[in-house]
Amino acid sequence: MANDYSVLAEYAQKDTDALKRELSVIFERQYGQSSEPVMFFAAPARINIIGEHIDYNGGKVFPAAIDKYIYLAIRRRNDSVIRYDDVRFPGVFTFDITETFAYKKENDYCNYLNGILSILKSRGFTFPKGFDALFFSCIPPGGGISSSSALECCFAYAVSSIYNLNVDGVEIAKIGQESEHRFMNVNCGIMDQFIIAMGKKDRAILLDCATLDYEYVPLELGDYRFVVMNTNKKRQLSDSKYNERVSECKTALGIMNAELEKRGEPALPDLCSCSAEQFESLKSCLTDDVLLRRVRHCVTENARVYAAVAALKAGNLQELGRLMDASHESLRLDYETTGIELDTLHEEAGKISGCIGSRVTGAGFGGCGIALIHKDCFGEFTEKVGSVYREKIGYDASFFECGTGDGASALN
Ligand code: GLA
Repeated sequence: MANDYSVLAEYAQKDTDALKRELSVIFERQYGQSSEPVMFFAAPARINIIGEHIDYNGGKVFPAAIDKYIYLAIRRRNDSVIRYDDVRFPGVFTFDITETFAYKKENDYCNYLNGILSILKSRGFTFPKGFDALFFSCIPPGGGISSSSALECCFAYAVSSIYNLNVDGVEIAKIGQESEHRFMNVNCGIMDQFIIAMGKKDRAILLDCATLDYEYVPLELGDYRFVVMNTNKKRQLSDSKYNERVSECKTALGIMNAELEKRGEPALPDLCSCSAEQFESLKSCLTDDVLLRRVRHCVTENARVYAAVAALKAGNLQELGRLMDASHESLRLDYETTGIELDTLHEEAGKISGCIGSRVTGAGFGGCGIALIHKDCFGEFTEKVGSVYREKIGYDASFFECGTGDGASALN
């Protein structure tokens, strides 16, 4: 299938009909013919412009769906068998839709899919028949632009469509998040699934993670573009320090609320409800410096999101870039989710005159960064940043300029 991959990747960039035709050919070669139609779906990757590690702290985040997608060809069967395959990772996984799914390491990416099915079942949906599914993804795996949420949301959207379940975008996001919590053991926030299910081309979403209120904000960048910088350092959220950060925040909130109770003041529902002034007044009860820094990141990052959205709306891209840099610094020093790979990319990006800001995007601990650069400096940017990175880290980073994309949908 290696050859199939490059052909599909080329079609994915320019010709959706050709992509569907080619996927159908591979699908039928793999699964044979049937009277049931093959249906096609797609879901995007995402960048987070600003607002990191605060979705699970009731904060505001500002992500955008990008124009790199995962695609799914799927067809209902007349029995209860389920088969999954992926052009990039060939090999058929077979299950039965009536079984009780559980996470198993050897099931690899299928855990994300079985997780979605298991959450749908727990919500009362029933599946009389199985299906055959073939994935093809243009999103780098494990790379920080949410390939796994794209997989989850693409699949949830497709399952909802082929069984007429009428699950809407917000619900798809919640199902994806619940599957991460209950099936994958990652206590993530809702940002990734939300933007992937709900994203719109040329827009970013300002999402209030405490209420799920959201606003589409036009992403008008003039002569500037977002570049994704992939550290190519592989990591999995389940074995990264992600859950550790989530629990540190919980501990800090508990300490602050105990202090507020002593003072006879109302409790904070989450860390991002704490204003800068309130943080000053509560600082002394956070005697553990690590916890103090975690809270400071949440409080300052939430404020930066408001400021960044205001800057973008006012067309002040320089200010947006400055806030991105400040966000990276806060994640480096206070939240400690960057590391030498991301810090090197950030530092070197800052030396290029056409770059007005850069930061880690997503969970960090490896993964990806983003930089806001002038459209004419992509060549210089990748060459200079890339060569220092290779020298210092010992392997290559990769870069691509991204546009915006649409959320999970049927591919018509
Ligand atoms: C991962 C999680 C998100 C969010 C980011 C950090 O991408 O899935 O919920 O917490 O990390 O902002």
